[in-house]
Amino acid sequence: MAEADNPAEGSPQFDYAYHLRLDQLLTSLRQVTPHPEEHLFLTVHHVMELWFKHLIFDLERIVPLLDADKLAEANWLLVRIGKILSLAEAHWPVLETMTAADFAEFRPYLTGASGMQSRQFRQVEVMIGLHQTAGEDYCKRTESLWPGMIEEYPRSLRDAFFAVFDRADLSLLEIYKNRWQQHQLFQLAENAFEIDRAFQSWRHRHILMVRRQIGIRARGTGGTFFKDYLASTTHYYFFPELFEFRDQLTEDAGGDVMQGD
Ligand code: HEM
Repeated sequence: MAEADNPAEGSPQFDYAYHLRLDQLLTSLRQVTPHPEEHLFLTVHHVMELWFKHLIFDLERIVPLLDADKLAEANWLLVRIGKILSLAEAHWPVLETMTAADFAEFRPYLTGASGMQSRQFRQVEVMIGLHQTAGEDYCKRTESLWPGMIEEYPRSLRDAFFAVFDRADLSLLEIYKNRWQQHQLFQLAENAFEIDRAFQSWRHRHILMVRRQIGIRARGTGGTFFKDYLASTTHYYFFPELFEFRDQLTEDAGGDVMQGD
């Protein structure tokens, strides 16, 4: 078990505050300004980082489960990942109760701090396999900020996911057409799709929140303009194949599908 220690070494009994290490958790929120709204801003960031930590924890479990064809267990955890991502998105409307005018009052004191410097966020993306689909710029940017991060995860969720389908020797189209006979593989594909969808939804909702808080032309505290950075992230997909083959499914059933891009 990760990060466990033995409470029996000190006292055989321990309480809630000890188990949760509340002394450390609750003293880590330190405002850099006296502005009351900075408290909410920090809380949302902290909560999000805790969820990123848990996503990393579960992603580390899922890849070996897929490699061992333990699909029931892997699917169970993949469903959870999708739910956590949806929960993460639900933080944006809460943060939007901080007005743009309030944020403008303490924003200069954040100096160069920006969510784009979240190592855990990038780790989650790389563990799922975004470096394999997002292109060269993404890899260069990740490598320059966190040298070695991509090599740290030589086997992504994407790799383990497609290896399962290769071993089964079935195409996505075959699996969807025989979804009740190939139910676990079908669920696996749906769960991966849901992770992609929920991640995209998080990104889009973050962008809407950013527009509300600082506007569309303002430079972020991380130094980027919307059109140069955040806009490009809306084209990121972990499993583009799961989106694309749906056209084929429609076409096979007699639907009209536009050819080319
Ligand atoms: C008022 C609140 C917020 C504003 C105005 C805001 C604004 C921005 C901007 C402008 C960027 C682009 C990089 C830059 O130049 O800074 C960015 C990136 C990012 N922000 Fe926020 N943000 C806010 C809150 C948050 C929170 C609470 C989180 C939670 C962790 C977060 C996570 C991220 C991440 C992960 C990125 C990088 C996205 C990517 O690389 O795809 N942001 N944010």
